[in-house]
Amino acid sequence: MLTQEENQFLTQVGPGTPAGELLRRYWHPIALAQDLSDENPTKFVRILAEDLVIFRDKSGRTGLIADKCPHRNASLVYGRVEERGISCVYHGWLMDCDGNIIETPPERNDAIMKNVKTTAYPVKIHVGLIWTYMGPQPVPPMTRYDTLFRKDGTRTIRLHPVLDSNWFQAMENSMDPAHLQVLHQEFIGRGKQPVSTTRGFTDDVEAFEFRTTDWGLMKKRTYKNGSVDEHPVCFPTILRQGASTQYRTPIDDTHTWHVHVNFFPTEDGSEPDDAFDPEVEFMEPYKQPPQAMHPEAHFTLQNVISQDHMAWETQGPIANRTKEHLSYSDRGVVLLRRITKEQIEKVQRGEDPMGVQRGEHPEMINTNIDEDWWQQNRPRPEANAAKA
Ligand code: FES
Ligand SMILES: [Fe+2]
Repeated sequence: MLTQEENQFLTQVGPGTPAGELLRRYWHPIALAQDLSDENPTKFVRILAEDLVIFRDKSGRTGLIADKCPHRNASLVYGRVEERGISCVYHGWLMDCDGNIIETPPERNDAIMKNVKTTAYPVKIHVGLIWTYMGPQPVPPMTRYDTLFRKDGTRTIRLHPVLDSNWFQAMENSMDPAHLQVLHQEFIGRGKQPVSTTRGFTDDVEAFEFRTTDWGLMKKRTYKNGSVDEHPVCFPTILRQGASTQYRTPIDDTHTWHVHVNFFPTEDGSEPDDAFDPEVEFMEPYKQPPQAMHPEAHFTLQNVISQDHMAWETQGPIANRTKEHLSYSDRGVVLLRRITKEQIEKVQRGEDPMGVQRGEHPEMINTNIDEDWWQQNRPRPEANAAKA
């Protein structure tokens, strides 16, 4: 159980909040690369509770700047993109990708152009996604996880419906291995029926263990038949499970962008030309009506991820952790909360939190994908989703 203050400390994402400042030390995926086109060169996004516009100017550069025009606050999502940036439709002020104001019609206001900048964040396009870093200088490189940077494989992207809850509920679920055997029992039995729906397949498991790494937390299930299932949380917003690297990018305190990058290594180590050019699969809504909230919404529970969305959303927009009763099996959740608090405190001391790399060519991080369960069972990406 947490106090209300502790709950806010771990969950809030806005600028200046403790967890918000932690989250601003990492690159996050924020949109699909294909969301921008010549026909649709702008897109509104809310990320970490900031309202922003992604745009591609006519020089081919991608920018991410404040949605509100620095002149008198009209939205730049309606801006006209030009060679040098984006021009507000209201009076024509022109901003470049770095947030500089480079024209101020109808007059030329040198004082404003020299002294005022609009909020702008660096952007990268990688594996079919647009990424940003919203923290202080110096900007670190993207953390080099194997599933994002290895060349010897192909990738797909799976975009899920927006999750109408706080990001930390999804991350706690990633350190909660016991739920698999109960919540997902219809999908993991391979034809077997559990003896009891209360325990599901819990009695197949010998032990749950947890440990930390330099860049995250590892959870491990050892089954009574001797098989082992071990996969990591790549701190703070990623679950790497089987083929999938699952990103939970906070939109604001009560909404989360949820996208999976699946990586399939080639058998022979060859490097396909399209390794970084994934196809995108759009998942159907997991509840009806799709915009409704519990209890008006009805979750379909048609697959593992919709079951997870049900569990995360029905905990509440931000789970009320002053009203929980943790048990021994929640020790992974307790560990995640402790590590998150420690990493927030590191940021507050001016240090880099876990998983931030420095230098131009940081080392690739091996998340153990080759040893993971799915490798012995492929091709079974759907079955792997069942282990999340
Ligand atoms: S509000 Fe954008 S130019 Fe005036
Ligand atoms: Fe799950």
